[in-house]
Amino acid sequence: MKLAIVYHSAHGHTEYIAHQVLRGAMEVAGVEAHLLKAEDMARAPGKLQAYDGLILGSPTYLGGVSGPFKSFMDATGGLWRTQALKGRLAAGFTVSSLPAGDKQSTLLSMFVFSMQHGMVWVGNPILPEQHSGVPYEHAANRLGSWSGLMAQAGHASPFDAFAPGDIKTARMFGRHFAESLQRMAAATPVAQESPT
Ligand SMILES: Cc1cc2nc3c(=O)[nH]c(=O)nc-3n(C[C@H](O)[C@H](O)[C@H](O)COP(=O)(O)O)c2cc1C
Repeated sequence: MKLAIVYHSAHGHTEYIAHQVLRGAMEVAGVEAHLLKAEDMARAPGKLQAYDGLILGSPTYLGGVSGPFKSFMDATGGLWRTQALKGRLAAGFTVSSLPAGDKQSTLLSMFVFSMQHGMVWVGNPILPEQHSGVPYEHAANRLGSWSGLMAQAGHASPFDAFAPGDIKTARMFGRHFAESLQRMAAATPVAQESPT
């Protein structure tokens, strides 16, 4: 099973989280994971057909995906017409500087995009660990987002901008997506050859 993390990042924060998602996905045996830039995929959207699952990542800009990420989405119109991505798994993540920052709108646009392409949405089923006593900054899913992964970037370089909890959540999110792919593979019966 192959998955691609398709992301845009202007200043490296979304890219940093994309790497954490990749790391989590690669913990799952039998799953191959690749990082792809949205700008490159906008020029060659047909390459997405080689993947069983797509994880979409964009910074939140003014409550939505960034311009380059939207250009990537729009470049997939030809794939939409033939429903070439139908049945693949999809998920989304976003990074923004404010605790809320309207990140949910960004995830929703990725969700609707995935639905229009006939893909199957995978969420972020992690209970916020601060409820069980883990300090807030270290807690998985501390931002409480189930429809996709959210991370909050402080005003620092990408390596210093994230709470440990958000990094942990990104890895768990990547692992969960890869495990979902594995489950899908196990549940898909191999096509029987018709007797001749
Ligand atoms: C044009 C623009 C719009 C932004 N809009 C929002 C926003 O709506 N909410 C928010 O919390 N942060 C917003 N930000 C902050 C970015 O989401 C944040 O800096 C993010 O880490 C950028 O990711 P990147 O380093 O991967 O480019 C905005 C930044 C820019 C440049």
